[in-house]
Amino acid sequence: MNNFNKIFGSLLLVVIIVFGINKTSDIIYKVNVPTTESYKVEVKDNSQTNEKKEPVSSDIKAILALGSADQGKKIFTKCAACHSINKGGGNKIGPALYSVLGRKVASVNDYKYSKGMASFEKIWGFEEMNAFLIKPAAYIKGTKMAFGGLKKEEDRASLILYMNQQTDNPLQIP
Ligand code: HEC
Repeated sequence: MNNFNKIFGSLLLVVIIVFGINKTSDIIYKVNVPTTESYKVEVKDNSQTNEKKEPVSSDIKAILALGSADQGKKIFTKCAACHSINKGGGNKIGPALYSVLGRKVASVNDYKYSKGMASFEKIWGFEEMNAFLIKPAAYIKGTKMAFGGLKKEEDRASLILYMNQQTDNPLQIP
């Protein structure tokens, strides 16, 4: 009986030790896992955002390719209540827009711009015009141009191509 107890006791001890080592290594292993995983995730995320950004963000060449100047002439009726676009046309509620592409923002001398637009230090290029027409009030804070914006990329492209014809110095289309 005594012997049996000793053997049983030492077996139990062995089981406890083995089990204990397993547990400890489990803990060490588990502590290591998250660091490697989070590192992998970071690397993946970076490459994904890079891949997505380039083609989507502002490929103005691709956007302009969607439009036609003829269509843009029709869409300009939305703007004509407030803007003239013909050569020699005057200011209306908004400034005259003949030759607007390539000129400095808010540079019609005899037009009184809002502070927001007057202090917007940029040239009207294709990208700026596209961004402005999506939602004018979001692009130029404090503008007094009361126009919601053109949601369709196609419409903006057409309008920009048309405006680029109503000028003495058309910009080169990319
Ligand atoms: C309800 C009247 C109204 C309509 C409609 C309107 N605009 Fe304007 N627009 C304005 C006013 C007012 C300003 C001057 C804004 C300021 O000073 O903040 C302006 C300014 C602009 C400018 C800046 C010009 C410059 O000299 O820097 C551009 C470009 C422009 N509008 C384009 C358009 C286009 C394109 C459309 C049609 C899709 C349009 N607008 C529709 C009233 C209007």
